[in-house]
Amino acid sequence: MAEQVPGKVNMEKLVSLCQRRGFIFPSSEIYGGLSSCWDYGPLGVELKQNIKQAWWRAVVRERDDMVGLDASILMHPQTWVASGHLKQFTDPLVECKKCHLRWRTDEVTDQNCPSCGGELTEPHLFNLMFKTFMGPVEEEANVVYLRPETAQGIFVNFQNVLNTTRKRLPFGIAQIGKAFRNEITTGNFIFRSREFEQMEIEYFVKPGTDEEWFNYWLEERRNWYVNLGIKEENLQLRPHTKGELAHYARKCYDIDYLFPMGWAELEGIANRGDFDLAQHANYSGKSLTYLDEETNEHIVPYIIEPSAGVDRSVLAFLCDAYDEEPAEDEIRVLLHLHPALAPIKVAVLPLSKKENLAQLAREVYTELRPCWMVQYDDTQSIGRRYRRQDEIGTPFCVTIDFQSLEDKQVTIRERDSMNQIRLPIAELKGTLTAKLAGEDLFVLPPGGQIWKEERRD
Ligand code: GAP
Repeated sequence: MAEQVPGKVNMEKLVSLCQRRGFIFPSSEIYGGLSSCWDYGPLGVELKQNIKQAWWRAVVRERDDMVGLDASILMHPQTWVASGHLKQFTDPLVECKKCHLRWRTDEVTDQNCPSCGGELTEPHLFNLMFKTFMGPVEEEANVVYLRPETAQGIFVNFQNVLNTTRKRLPFGIAQIGKAFRNEITTGNFIFRSREFEQMEIEYFVKPGTDEEWFNYWLEERRNWYVNLGIKEENLQLRPHTKGELAHYARKCYDIDYLFPMGWAELEGIANRGDFDLAQHANYSGKSLTYLDEETNEHIVPYIIEPSAGVDRSVLAFLCDAYDEEPAEDEIRVLLHLHPALAPIKVAVLPLSKKENLAQLAREVYTELRPCWMVQYDDTQSIGRRYRRQDEIGTPFCVTIDFQSLEDKQVTIRERDSMNQIRLPIAELKGTLTAKLAGEDLFVLPPGGQIWKEERRD
């Protein structure tokens, strides 16, 4: 991977903004942090939640052919024998005889350690699953694993979901949840960590229609990112080569994003064929078939799997939204986050802390708070407060000034254009609802007027 893609935000700058503004902190920071584990702060948790909600809405709530699931992280150990993870989920590693650092074989270009130049051992296979013990006795019989993908929880529940929902093919099951991998090389902030979250769909189809559904989901998932603001030129579809394919996959494409360190996988779309249902049927002895009513035959459906990372999505949305522009004698840093993803939708800013103004501002805040994440900020100059909101991606600021006490009107300032309109407080909630849904700022409500036109984008 390249060190730094020209024109993309520098990763250190993004990490610093995330820490400074409360998006993401190193895990257990007071103890020096835990390698490649991260904690989401007050703004990060909102952003992450909004991404998950947007995904759930698009793939479950707005579709007739999808249902949701929330399976447990710990699963019967046979799951991982059947899935092939116990045998196949391994990286060949070499170890430096001098500094004992371990490297994936594809990371070393010659026979020496990339860190200290020491001599390397022969490659050994290293399983990426985290092991733990169920119950009080730490012995081999009690070993369980932290799931390395959420997918298996869906496969083992295939029959339960089929029986309880009576869905017909094609249909899908969606799940969001934590996954764990003892990755050898981590880094690039939240791009590759050892504990992360996945948003996975397992879409069951009739064999023979799998190619069509594979193409459908490729397009559908790419569009999801674009509709939420990712620039098309920063996304690419990349087919896996034969050597790259996972043991379960007949075909796989990555949706790659142009991260600051180069193109890298954001989401994988795989055709898993009948591998998983056939394996679990074989190892559990339970039938995992579907009765095709047309032919009256029991068939094993094929599976198309769009598998996305929540944390990688957070990183991609942040990278794509980050912007700097000259403003007066300073640089304005802003996040052009889609309103559906922005952690704070509206900031309420009284021009002064004076009692009568504060009271009106509090009333406005109280009225808006049940609708969205709204922030009340009355410290420092109004210019500083606008900058603070721009930097965390708040789409709209509502400013209450002394004239508001007389005319019961307030201004709405838009983040990207910095344009402002003035409108009656009675129209505020409805107007913000429309603007957050994408209506142009200068479409005015009754009694509204253009207040400040900085520039038209
Ligand atoms: N069930 C298929 C599966 O797990 P994967 O390509 O290994 O496929 C799917 O993972 C997605 O999960 C990736 O596209 C990525 O977004 C995310 N992901 C995988 N490993 C990750 C890690 N170590 N840290 C953060 N995200 C990860």
